[in-house]
Amino acid sequence: MTALTPTENASDDHGHSAPAKLGYSPVAEIPHRLRVTDTDPKAARRAERQVAAMFALSMFFVVLSVAAYVMIDKTTVVYIPVLGEVGASNVALGFTFGIAVLLIGTGAIQWAKKLMPDVEVVQERHDMVSEPQEDNLAVANYERGKDESGFARYKMIRRTLLGALAFFPIPLVVFLRDLWVTPSGENPTEILSNTLWAKGKRIISDGTYLAVRPEDLPVGGLVSALPEGLLEVQEEEHNLNARGKAAIILVRMDPDQIRSQQGEGWDYNGILAFSKICTHVGCPIALYEQRTHHLLCPCHQSTFDLADSGAVIYGPAARNMPQLPISVDEEGYLVAVEDFSEPVGPSFWERDRA
Ligand code: FES
Repeated sequence: MTALTPTENASDDHGHSAPAKLGYSPVAEIPHRLRVTDTDPKAARRAERQVAAMFALSMFFVVLSVAAYVMIDKTTVVYIPVLGEVGASNVALGFTFGIAVLLIGTGAIQWAKKLMPDVEVVQERHDMVSEPQEDNLAVANYERGKDESGFARYKMIRRTLLGALAFFPIPLVVFLRDLWVTPSGENPTEILSNTLWAKGKRIISDGTYLAVRPEDLPVGGLVSALPEGLLEVQEEEHNLNARGKAAIILVRMDPDQIRSQQGEGWDYNGILAFSKICTHVGCPIALYEQRTHHLLCPCHQSTFDLADSGAVIYGPAARNMPQLPISVDEEGYLVAVEDFSEPVGPSFWERDRA
């Protein structure tokens, strides 16, 4: 093994030098082959421009992603083979931001492969406590590495890289705006308070889309359900917002086991309906333990007691799961008595609007 030792560090204008002069002892058994950029200053210059172009393009795609976020209507859909209809805004954001990240990564790899030193070195391990001279050696190696990487020398690369990294967080800041401003400017409380549920609206199973009768649900059972007519609305609106807000779970327990509800008589013979969307940050939930009547959110483990008004008994959620009052119609199908009486879904909007 060869120790890491400083050696004379001679290089050309672009920092390209023979392995033996790079400041580290090369591994003797591995033959070293010089790259074109090590021997041809023009090739090195070309590589520098390529890397800089990638960083500059990354900035362009970041700007494009912000423009897409601002300009594309959130309800516009596009058809993509295999995926079907998807939100145009999501596609544009994913594409532009993804390309921006890819270009920074590709530029960094190209810089390392074509312009930074590529000698192989072996460093011997010593005691954990370094001697002062080893500290000095480490500092010297760091300084030498900094010089050899060309960070100071390749001004165009350095500036475009710093520019790309400075642009990179911009979309994150812009996108966070959605946490307190809705695309339409409406109050999130109103949007999340109005769902498709209404007096007499039948409850249909999510999957078969057939109306549910009380006898379809045994004690201890759980059914994911939706309001009748949802598919038509979904088709009309070309988005999943209505579905997300209206999704519920039905659970059945012995009526004697219900300790409290959010409204008097909101169950039907022990069948309770709750929003399916977690009040923490909105994951759909259907993990139900019939013995304890606990509903567990798989995202951050918030746990709700459905036998006690959907109360939070564990985890980061701060609000009960909203309950939907239900009954049966004259044909014996389960129906909603009215819409939810409080907003469904995540509660970040409450922070400064309460
Ligand atoms: S989304 Fe349910 S606990 Fe976080």
